[in-house]
Amino acid sequence: MKFLIINGPNLNLLGQREPEIYGKDGYDALCERLKAFAQAHGSTAECFQSNHEGAIIDAIHTAQGTYDAIIMNPGAYTHYSIAILDALKAVDTPCIEVHISNVHQREEFRHKSVTAPACVGQICGLGLYGYEAAMGYFLEKADH
Ligand code: DQA
Repeated sequence: MKFLIINGPNLNLLGQREPEIYGKDGYDALCERLKAFAQAHGSTAECFQSNHEGAIIDAIHTAQGTYDAIIMNPGAYTHYSIAILDALKAVDTPCIEVHISNVHQREEFRHKSVTAPACVGQICGLGLYGYEAAMGYFLEKADH
């Protein structure tokens, strides 16, 4: 399978940013890990990160017909970007939403995802493993 991994604002600062919440591994390490996981399963993973809503929307549009699945952590856009919700609805490529932290154990404004309704499902609180779990779901589904 061809996976597109999209990470939204501030996730380029993984490893430096609130490590007690998001862990010590950096963004590059995350991408290496996901690429290796994909490769071990006969697949590929492309990583894209942006701090800009429009660039994330453009990346979602490119997935149509090019990638089999999107795995996206929209960062704070999760909680208010109707434009990202609409972009996900505009393409046929299925998406799983991933959050590194357990958003439900945090501030109330993080409990609501406006983007999750356009996703197959949502994974949160499993750390970086959540991205692999999402890939694993799509791989198993493709196998059956
Ligand atoms: C996050 C949770 C969001 O609330 C936050 O704004 C992020 C990261 C997570 O991965 O846990 O930037 O999506």
